[in-house]
Amino acid sequence: MAIASQLGPSALAGLGLAATASDRIQTATGFDLEPLVLLTPGPLTTSERTRAAATFDLGSWDAPFAALTADVCARLTAILGQGAESYACVPLQGSGTFAVEAAVRTFVPPKAGLVVVSNGAYGERIAAIGRAAGRTVALFRGAWDEPVDPGAIHSLLTDLPSVYGHVAVVHCETSTGVLNRLEPIADVVRQSRRQLLVDAMSTFGAIDIPAWHPAVTAVVAASGKCLEGLPGMGFVLARRQALADASGQCDSLSLDLADQHAYLERTGQWRFTPPVQVVAALAQALAEHAAEGGRAGRLARYQANSDVLAAGLADLGLRPYLPADCQAPIIHTVYPPDHPAWDFERFYQQVRQRGFVIYPGKLTEVETFRVGCIGQIDAAVMRRAVTAISQALSAMGCLTANALTSEDAADASLADRATAGIGV
Ligand SMILES: Cc1ncc(COP(=O)(O)O)c(C=O)c1O
Repeated sequence: MAIASQLGPSALAGLGLAATASDRIQTATGFDLEPLVLLTPGPLTTSERTRAAATFDLGSWDAPFAALTADVCARLTAILGQGAESYACVPLQGSGTFAVEAAVRTFVPPKAGLVVVSNGAYGERIAAIGRAAGRTVALFRGAWDEPVDPGAIHSLLTDLPSVYGHVAVVHCETSTGVLNRLEPIADVVRQSRRQLLVDAMSTFGAIDIPAWHPAVTAVVAASGKCLEGLPGMGFVLARRQALADASGQCDSLSLDLADQHAYLERTGQWRFTPPVQVVAALAQALAEHAAEGGRAGRLARYQANSDVLAAGLADLGLRPYLPADCQAPIIHTVYPPDHPAWDFERFYQQVRQRGFVIYPGKLTEVETFRVGCIGQIDAAVMRRAVTAISQALSAMGCLTANALTSEDAADASLADRATAGIGV
């Protein structure tokens, strides 16, 4: 019952179970930390064994660490599936944004243009990265509540000069949860003889990426998302040819993927201090990913989580921001109840007291909140999350008439305890 055991003391208390004092951690500097179920797109809930793998001191120049890095990179590349043999994995220190910036600065030549196809905050971030790097950015903005339209991108690309050699797109816009369909986008990018950079931060390891498509040049992701590792390492899966072509053109030293790759190939070492414990934890997380049935197995669990969440929120009378047909099983954006007692901060605290951490919305015009479905959690945990949300709304006096009553929620809670194998 590894997944159910992720529940922290607050969640256990929410289920009427006693939390033990040892569940809490008092830091030497006086902070009181408690384990919580993170319904967020990273950092997210990880397995005990993944966290335990990060408890060793490792020498970055020591041969076992070089072997570990090589193994992690080989496993990450293999997850690409068809076409993977043309790619190399370049790991990079830092969060996902560092890896996206590295891909832009490495593959888009300093005097060239970048087309950014955006339907959310992370698309906007790529445009900001391009501008900060001094690239000329052509920004295509689509509606945030629907996938980007390949036809519209085709028209834009036809009108742009060839100096705009690369197109960047986000696979799942984690700011809303909308899934962009990569293959038709890659088709129009290919037709205009350009190359595609994919921000697959919140999909890699769970949702298929058409790496075999000739337009796809680089896929960017990170350790702490669907791979369920700890945060701290980004990576770029790039075509070997593109890395060779980019040699010497990056206008950043630390973000130069071509140089990082060449150095790794030559020495087996990272150029600068690697996040050794994060890499060790990722090796464990990747073994668990394989044991779960790889990408397909992980997707099946996330889809089940997503289905439970969508149904549960609907029962509570909460409306989803996205239509179901473009909702990725990664994160849901939800409208709050239309009730005068609604207050996100109070809601957040109420849900947190019950052991779950949710996310504020990222939309500027309308108020929403977000609930993630990824991480070491399963449908039983997700049902408890729905119960916690129901109880939080009830405590705030926000439940609408047709929503689940607190008695229903209590029943669900009992049923969930049985399903999850937690003693009553
Ligand atoms: C699609 C996407 N791109 C980029 C990022 C940025 O990653 P980080 O916050 O690790 O820098 C995120 C983070 O959630 C993301 O979901």
